[in-house]
Amino acid sequence: MAQTMTLTPIDSTAAPLAAVDADLVVMPWFEAERASAVPGLDAATGAEIARALETNEFSGKRFEQFVTTVTDSGWRPRRIALVGAGPAAQFGTEIMRKLAATAGLLGRQRRMSRVAFVLRAANAASPVESAQAAAEGLTLSEFNVGSYKTSDPLPPPVPAWTVVVPQAGPAIDAAIARGRVLGDCSNRARQMANEPGNRLTPCEFAARCAQAASEAGVGVDILDERQIEKLGMGLLLGVARGSSEPPRVMVFRHEPPGAPASPVLGLVGKGITFDTGGISIKPADGMEKMKDDMAGGAAVACAMRAIALLEAPIRVVGVVPATENMPGGRAIKPGDVLTSASGKTVEVINTDAEGRLILGDALWYAQRLGATHLVDVATLTGACVVALGKITSGIFGTPGEWVEHVRAVGARAGDRMWPMPLHEEYRDQLKSEIADLMNTGGRAAASITAAIFLKEFVGALPWAHIDIAGTAWVDEAQPFLPKGPSGVAVRTLAELAFTAFPQVSSLKSV
Ligand code: BES
Ligand code: MN
Ligand code: ZN
Repeated sequence: MAQTMTLTPIDSTAAPLAAVDADLVVMPWFEAERASAVPGLDAATGAEIARALETNEFSGKRFEQFVTTVTDSGWRPRRIALVGAGPAAQFGTEIMRKLAATAGLLGRQRRMSRVAFVLRAANAASPVESAQAAAEGLTLSEFNVGSYKTSDPLPPPVPAWTVVVPQAGPAIDAAIARGRVLGDCSNRARQMANEPGNRLTPCEFAARCAQAASEAGVGVDILDERQIEKLGMGLLLGVARGSSEPPRVMVFRHEPPGAPASPVLGLVGKGITFDTGGISIKPADGMEKMKDDMAGGAAVACAMRAIALLEAPIRVVGVVPATENMPGGRAIKPGDVLTSASGKTVEVINTDAEGRLILGDALWYAQRLGATHLVDVATLTGACVVALGKITSGIFGTPGEWVEHVRAVGARAGDRMWPMPLHEEYRDQLKSEIADLMNTGGRAAASITAAIFLKEFVGALPWAHIDIAGTAWVDEAQPFLPKGPSGVAVRTLAELAFTAFPQVSSLKSV
């Protein structure tokens, strides 16, 4: 795993707190806990913790923070931070990950050079799961919303991290190393989603994804417009017509020696490097946000990197179609009919429903590459944001067992998703007078009809579609997550490659 060498490792120690080599020790603190809950800690701070709890300056509410100096000269750490963990009964891996990210951001803001995070016994989670989540959280705190300001001060430096564990051992160290990789791959996807559209053209996006994946050992092919044409990807080519930037299709392959022929996990991600809406142009207000319309594609590329670095035991293929959606003189127009690689024809009603077009061809291609189980990730519909807001992705697909499996893996990885129905009656909304289907189905259930459109290109395979339109970008900073790209779905996609797929009974609608 030579590639993980470029990441500074996170240390682990089971030493007593007094002996931990750090400038700042961050300790999760449960609501209603007494100062004596951690033996020796209160005394080392000259009873500051007891005082703070007494006066309610700090009470352990989730993500509340309290920093105090260590007065006991026999202690190595100079400062203690308490971070509120909320009620002990609700504690679990997801909160552990967020607490660690909060701790990391706190340490960075205070310009600490060595920060230790204490893993307190989590009620629900195993020590190994907690350790991985802590490493993910600390690593996520390393992300800088890159700035092109020429006069800005440098972002706060990244401290050396230590995780203080109840019991050290190789399993804990492996979990920490795994969390480190998953956090770093999430940050790489965030970095790409943050890049302005003029810098991250489809070719540049493809080059960066290829680099991230291939240096980890993933097989990568970048298809150019000639190869795309040969494959007959008329939907992707249709969207690309409005732009002077040529489209690309990224193809990733993880083929570990000795892996079984089946299953083959197929990951597909939307890679619109900027979405103006095309001829059905978007309003100017807020259009700048559409630079992150490739967040699903970045998630796939960065998950492929994690899958290779962590040596997933199964075969995985990834497909990311990349293009701009622009209203150039040769752009597709409402009423135009396009022929997909699968042969189905599509009447374009609204050129702003471009994501489903490029994904239709990409889903078809993932099957041609041998995928047996599909997952696609896309900033697909504003309607999904209306339905589920900014904290939950929509998940759609068939059959129910596969969708539920992806959802559950996501919940453990920290990507919250909620299932939406795909009843066959919704298909009526896509009926076209002139072609096999239309690319929009009106205002009603618009995130569902988008998924129904994709389903037309999926055939009989188990398939889950994750709509991250609301979750790819953070508008309101949280203690554990700054404003900007979230890196959603990277860890879910990577972790999927380490799970046993469920037996799928039938391919009915859900
Ligand atoms: N990229 C957008 C979806 C989107 C909207 C992402 C808001 C993030 C925030 C997508 O290409 C789009 O424009 N969808 C249209 C579809 C409509 C024309 C049927 C939408 O949701 O409005
Ligand atoms: Mn659009
Ligand atoms: Zn879009």
